[in-house]
Amino acid sequence: MAVTYRNNRLVPAVIIATCIVLIFLLIDPTVENFGNPIPKAGGRDETHAGTHSTAAQAGTPPTAPTGEPKPQGSHSDSHPQHSATPDRIEEDDVLLIMKTGGTSMWKRLLVHLTTTLSATRISPSNIVIYSDNAETIGPFTVIDALANMTDAAKRSSDFDVYRQQSEYVDYNFYSEAAGVDGDDWGPVGGWIIDKYKFLPLMQHAGQNWPRAKWYIYMEDDAYLFLPNIRKFLAGFDWRKAHYLGSYAAKSDAVFAHGGAGFVLSRGAWEESFGKNHNLVEEYHDYVAKHCCGDQVLGLALRDNGVRFGENGGDEKFTWGFNPIVHWRFAFSRSNWCHPLLSWHKVHNRDVARYFELERRWDFDSPLLYRDFFRSVVLPQVQKNAQWWDNMAGLYEVSSANKEWATAPKDSSTYDAAVWKKSWTSVEACEAACRAWSDCVMWSFVEDLCKMDDKVIMGQGYAPSMPQRKTSLMHTSGWITDRLESWTC
Ligand SMILES: *[C@@H]1O[C@H](CO)[C@@H](O)[C@H](O)[C@H]1NC(C)=O
Repeated sequence: MAVTYRNNRLVPAVIIATCIVLIFLLIDPTVENFGNPIPKAGGRDETHAGTHSTAAQAGTPPTAPTGEPKPQGSHSDSHPQHSATPDRIEEDDVLLIMKTGGTSMWKRLLVHLTTTLSATRISPSNIVIYSDNAETIGPFTVIDALANMTDAAKRSSDFDVYRQQSEYVDYNFYSEAAGVDGDDWGPVGGWIIDKYKFLPLMQHAGQNWPRAKWYIYMEDDAYLFLPNIRKFLAGFDWRKAHYLGSYAAKSDAVFAHGGAGFVLSRGAWEESFGKNHNLVEEYHDYVAKHCCGDQVLGLALRDNGVRFGENGGDEKFTWGFNPIVHWRFAFSRSNWCHPLLSWHKVHNRDVARYFELERRWDFDSPLLYRDFFRSVVLPQVQKNAQWWDNMAGLYEVSSANKEWATAPKDSSTYDAAVWKKSWTSVEACEAACRAWSDCVMWSFVEDLCKMDDKVIMGQGYAPSMPQRKTSLMHTSGWITDRLESWTC
């Protein structure tokens, strides 16, 4: 009797176990392809495939077909390159490049794994993560962009941190310094090798994802509004050379600011990296002598016929990619109605909040700066705030400059008498702002009144913060009902 009873209990267990094995067999190929480049004939990237097999094997019965190549071009065949119309960007048309670093990834990258890089947002086969070390995090493979640098390059002192990172870890000292208190024990100088990564990673991405129409680059302290970027890119022809992002200039090169995120078309890649396979070596000495990888990329592209800019390389870019975080950004009449594409210097909590906003937004129409402002900033700037600096700065009136302080050009738009007295009190400052027709925010401290025609959220000191004992109190105010005249 007891035997029969035990057998009855075994039957469901056996059925469940069989089901689990079957599910693993079915799921496995997908798991394998997370973050993997499209395999090419001749088996490039065997190393990455290898890493994946190991990860997949951990939860897979030994009979599962691990390490099998992904079906070739399964996703691109449905929209062949040459019949593509530039009016719609499909999910598979982009490669999202995430750049991180060995000393920052354990703090900055992780939040992206469940937001920016989640499978509901972008297919894992359209993602690549580059760093200065190789790692596996769950289904994600992080590629060491510097792996193929010459031995001579790797021996240079700039690469000390490259070697030290793995040594520290081997000795159980964690190398996750991200400029946060408590990071003191990581190797210093992650930013020194950071600049070396730009050229090799673009080279690698273009070689391994040849069917991507757009290479969308981002760093681990940025957030990109991907659905907006896809819509935005639909206005450009990927076969032409396009290099789009936030305008920056340095050392005689105009380039896309790396932190703000940028986009390179397949056409631009073929024109540059595609024709000249030695960019990494050619520019190595230049990289060593200059500060920034994004500038070097801009220069290398320009030298090879690809120029930055919205209108066929005119070196201009108006709005969309932003090199700063939302609460430092000046919302204005000129950007109000443009699609918002990115924020930079964001923290984990920001990423989580942006992702929620993006998820709730119906991208039938793009998410404009205005829409972001209304959801995130507006609720916080309704009332005047003490111990708060909104960074107003267009005009400044103080007891020292009251007689000759600059004022709006058109004297009919403001009240000169009220303007001159604006430094005397919080109320006088607010009154001067209200008396100037374009004013939308003001701030006051001691004997200084600042007024602006743009809105910035700014930052304050919380009641328990010691800065309230060591600094002067700023008071800030916003005239939000005036924003109703900023129409789209
Ligand atoms: C390094 O070289 C190997 C062999 O050519 C190649 O498979 C791999 O993709 C390269 N890695 C990078 C980051 O360029």
